[in-house]
Parts: sequence; C-alpha cells; structure tokens
Amino acid sequence: MKNNNIEQRDNFGSRFGIIAAAAGSAIGLGNIWKFPYMTGLNGGAAFIIVYLVCIAFIGLTLMLSEFIIGRRAQKNAIGAFKKLAPNTPWFLTGWMGVIAAFVILSFYGVIAGWCMEYIVRAVMNSFAGMSPDEITSSFVDFIGRGGKPIFWQVAFMSLTGFIVVSGIKDGIEKYAKILMPLLVAIIIILDIRAITLPGAGAGLEFLFKPDFSKLTANGILMALGHAFFSLSLGMGTMITYGSYISKKENLGETALQVTIADTLIALLAGIAIFPAVFAFGIEPNAGPGLVFITLPNVFQQMPLGYLFSILFFILLTVAALTSSISILEVVVAYFVEDLKMNRKRATITATLAITLLGIPCSLSQGAVPLNIGGMSFLDAMSWLTDNLLLPLGGLLIVAFVGWVLGRKEVEEEVTAGGIKVSYIPLFMFLAKFVAPIAIALVFLNGVGII
Ligand code: PFF
Repeated sequence: MKNNNIEQRDNFGSRFGIIAAAAGSAIGLGNIWKFPYMTGLNGGAAFIIVYLVCIAFIGLTLMLSEFIIGRRAQKNAIGAFKKLAPNTPWFLTGWMGVIAAFVILSFYGVIAGWCMEYIVRAVMNSFAGMSPDEITSSFVDFIGRGGKPIFWQVAFMSLTGFIVVSGIKDGIEKYAKILMPLLVAIIIILDIRAITLPGAGAGLEFLFKPDFSKLTANGILMALGHAFFSLSLGMGTMITYGSYISKKENLGETALQVTIADTLIALLAGIAIFPAVFAFGIEPNAGPGLVFITLPNVFQQMPLGYLFSILFFILLTVAALTSSISILEVVVAYFVEDLKMNRKRATITATLAITLLGIPCSLSQGAVPLNIGGMSFLDAMSWLTDNLLLPLGGLLIVAFVGWVLGRKEVEEEVTAGGIKVSYIPLFMFLAKFVAPIAIALVFLNGVGII
C-alpha cells in the first residue's frame, strides 16, 4: 500500500528494538503484581493452565490482529480504523482504545508510584524489625495519605512523559533496549534466590501442580480478562506499535515472541514470589497487597533480604515504566497525527490530563471516600478496563480483522516482506469465530448478564 504521508513516520530501528518495546509494553505490573496475586486467589496451577490456553488461542490472535491493523494503516488507533474502513463507525473502536488508555494509565501511574516509594523504603531498610501488622498498617497508611502517593504518581508520570517525548526510536525503543535486559537479569536473580530457599518446594507445587477443584467459573473469566491486560490488548497499544514496525518484519513471529516473553516473565514472577511465600509459612492468597505487604514480610526474614527487596521494587518500577510509555503513546500518536499537535505539546497535554485523572484514583485509597458501585475509584477504573473496555475493544478489533479486513488483506499484510506463512486458515478461523465468541462471554460476564 502506498504511504501518502509526506512526513516520514518514526519507526522502530531494529528487530531487537521492536521486541524489547512490545514485550516491554506487555510485561508490566500485570505480570509481576497482578498475575501472582490472581494465581494465589484462584488456587494456583489450575488457573495458570486456563490462562495459558487463553493466551495461546485468543491473546495471540488478538495481538497479531492489532499488529496487522497498525502496520497496514500506518496510523494511530483511531486513524487506522478511519483509513481501513472509511466512512463507517469502526473508528469508534479506536476512540474506545484512547479512552481506555486514559483510564488505565490514570490508575497504573498511581500503583507504579507506590512501587517507587517502596524502592526508597527498601533502600532505607524500613521493613527491618517490623511485625507483619506493622508492615500492613504502614502500607495502608501510606496509600491512604493525600500528598505522598500523589507525589510519586507525578514523579512516575513525568518519567513516562520524558521518554515518550523523544519519539519512537530515540525514546521508547532506546529505553526499552536498556530496561528490558535489566528486568530479565533482576528477575532471574530473584528466582535463583527463591528456589534455593529451604522449603521452596511447596511454592513450586502450588504453581505447577493443578488442583482443578479450586477453579471457579469466575476464575476462568478472570484468566481471559487478565490475558488482555497482560498482553496490552484491546485498546490499540499494539495497533500503535504495529504501525511503527517495518514492512520487512514477520508480524506473526513478532506476535509469538512477545506473547512467549510476556508469559515467561509472568511465570518467572510467580517463581520468584510463591516459593519464598511458602518457605516462610505465609498464606499465598493475599490479593492486591501481595507484593506490598506479603513480600516485605518475606524479605525481612530472608538472608540478604535487604538487597533482594531493593531489586524487587526496582524490577516492578522498570516493568511498569516500559508499559506506561506504550499506553501514553496511544494517546500521543493520536494527538500528533489526527489533532496535528507537535510531539512535545501532545506529550505534555496527555501526561497532564492522565495524571489529573489519576489523582482521584490515588485519593480514593483512604484520603477521600471516593467510591463508585461499592468500589474505590481506583478499583472501579480497573474493573472498567478489565471487564468492559478491553474485552469490548478486543472483540471489535478481532472481528474487524476477521470479518471486515478479510483473508486477502490479512494475507497480503503478513506476507508483505516476502514471508511465507502457513497459519492463515487457522488464524482466520480463530479471528472470525473462536476469539469473538470467547471474548463475548467475558464481556457478558463482566457486565453481569451471565
Ligand atoms: N500489559 C501491561 C501489564 O501487564 O502491566 C499493562 C497494559 C499496558 C495494559 C498497555 C494495556 C496496555 F495497553
């Protein structure tokens, strides 16, 4: 397809850069904070098996769909639908994505801010000598304050804006290429520490020996919802990143590599956490407080725990940062291409607006009683994305590729660089039927219809 843009669009410069950036987007708080606690709440290995099935059949299909839309259109999430399906309401799918980006990053920035505070606490050795109750109350007290969590949220969002303002090659790709190897190195060190603890076996058993009696229907739906969040799907992040991938690259292979990397890191995060949790006789089903309450307890008792606690919270912050830049880019790309702002203005405007929306999320943790539907404002935003925006966005995206773009265009795009593929019939079947039906189930469950 001819590119009519007079201005050259910024692109990723290397294959490693593409993988680092896209895997950086996928690997985030979802892998290291959320996946372990969801696994803990849903009984361990059985949940993981369901999650893997969701990733393999639906996640991968949707990721390739997003890459195809983005690279074919060479546009941001909204512009892509306008270009590929002109004069139809399909662009509303892109709109939903941009809204989801606002919503997700608003609460994501808050939690990432907590991770930064915990780096400082770890460095100051503040968990030393605290009882489990004191560790819990110091966390609850911190997130319930007005000023400090917002200070960290603003710091984290500024860091995100700082990287995004430099563009794709000189900003996002450059930092992903540094931060992702760092992340992998830290997680491997933490894994070695965890599995060499006496009593680690029980944690590994919890992770890898399935007990299907613990799995509920709701657990299955949570696994699918989490597959979207973890792979950054359903809101146009991978459409936006796909638009920066050169025509020479093999999109199917890229989607597969990113999916495998994301899944491996989630498992490695589980291996870093559960053996340690079990080794110290702590219950695994701690919920969202797992990394901020349970782990400081664990680190306190662990030989060299001081060092490992610092590494762990750096890991969380780095993972969050490479994801937050991809979320911000969804909004910035739209502002730049469709609203014709320059990159600097677009980044500042988007960062400010999202940070402002994050403030009520932060305050809702105790400082101000901001509740929606019985949930704190932050939990409500997270619920809205997991159960509504991402599944609905994902459904529309995959159905668009299956039914509107169709086999001929899909084939043309995935074979663009002279690449031979044999998965088209399977992919089309998944995109037309399996993925939309499965996603519709999550969605209907999310809105309470089933
Ligand atoms: N995938 C990220 C994580 O697992 O933390 C979160 C995320 C990033 C969700 C980008 C959605 C998104 F578009």
